[in-house]
Amino acid sequence: MNHTIRPAEESDYESIAEVLRKTLPGFLGTAESLRESDRRPLVAGPKARFIAEQGSNVVGVAQYRPNVHECQLSLLVTVLPSHRRQGIGHALFEVVNASAQAHQPQARWAEVSEADSDSFRFAEKHGFREHTRVFESRFDLTRFASEDALPALPESFRESSRQDGFEIQDLAHTSLEDAHRQFYKLYFESLGDVPNLPKSPAPSFEAFQKSHLDPTRYPADGVILAVVGEEVIGFSQMMLHKSLPTLAIIAMTGCKPGYRGRGIATTLKIAAMRWAKRRGIQTLSTWNDALNAPILAINEKLGFLKRPGMIILRR
Ligand SMILES: CC(C)(COP(=O)(O)OP(=O)(O)OC[C@H]1O[C@@H](n2cnc3c(N)ncnc32)[C@H](O)[C@@H]1OP(=O)(O)O)[C@@H](O)C(=O)NCCC(=O)NCCS
Repeated sequence: MNHTIRPAEESDYESIAEVLRKTLPGFLGTAESLRESDRRPLVAGPKARFIAEQGSNVVGVAQYRPNVHECQLSLLVTVLPSHRRQGIGHALFEVVNASAQAHQPQARWAEVSEADSDSFRFAEKHGFREHTRVFESRFDLTRFASEDALPALPESFRESSRQDGFEIQDLAHTSLEDAHRQFYKLYFESLGDVPNLPKSPAPSFEAFQKSHLDPTRYPADGVILAVVGEEVIGFSQMMLHKSLPTLAIIAMTGCKPGYRGRGIATTLKIAAMRWAKRRGIQTLSTWNDALNAPILAINEKLGFLKRPGMIILRR
């Protein structure tokens, strides 16, 4: 049966969410969460979405979005398993790639599940090469009856807080006047140390406030800070999805280089678990690069469970 490809419209959100749910492992979105992230994207820049239809059924989706920076685009092409090997993926790729090309991106990114060798071959055939692998890890908070039952703070942090006066605060209840600016600065310093992340210039503080401190997505009390004296030396930031009320994502954790290896990030993650438990969150989720040994060690030690990995490709 012939297919047609056209730009996605407002009335397509439900069908698009269904295709993504059926084809992307770990996809937790809904029509509403897709609509919301289209209305208020994390990174401003070019974006487009196309669908493939057979009759009145949506059988494939292709899109691009800015990846970390507007000059780098993330491409996605996905086709229902029942409609593969009919040339639909290739046709979708041609349309989405030509549209992305018009923006002259510095790089194009794609990701496929490690378990999906067909999709990996498809991406390679279209010029993408493996760049790195990432994993989602999840922490099941329903296993703990209360905040008190969660893992205890590490001895190394308790020792440091006795000796050096380390404290845990949050951005909504901090004693520091310039906590927002310090958080912004440390966020981008730490981002520079995340392995394999595309390098890009930091946005202005004002742009960061608009995107990364938008209270509907990033509540201020979900930015957990490690403070010593007047200095923010570590943070862990939680992200919420309006349409996924039982899930919180640990969007980013960082610690100043001079303070690493002293249990600070571990403590921040435990504080994040307590914050999530108080809010009635059931699952904490976090994505990390396969080469980020320290953060993977922390997650494993705290009882996060690794899910199948994703391969990140670049063209
Ligand atoms: C990841 C990061 C936040 C860790 O901060 P930290 O305060 O040093 O973390 P902790 O002291 O709580 O724990 C570090 C753990 O990593 C382990 N670790 C450190 N380097 C390691 C390595 N090369 N291989 C394996 N484990 C390693 C330590 O042994 C320690 O575990 P332990 O307590 O069981 O000994 C910090 O390195 C950082 O800011 N990195 C840059 C930003 C980043 O990558 N963030 C994560 C992505 S969101």
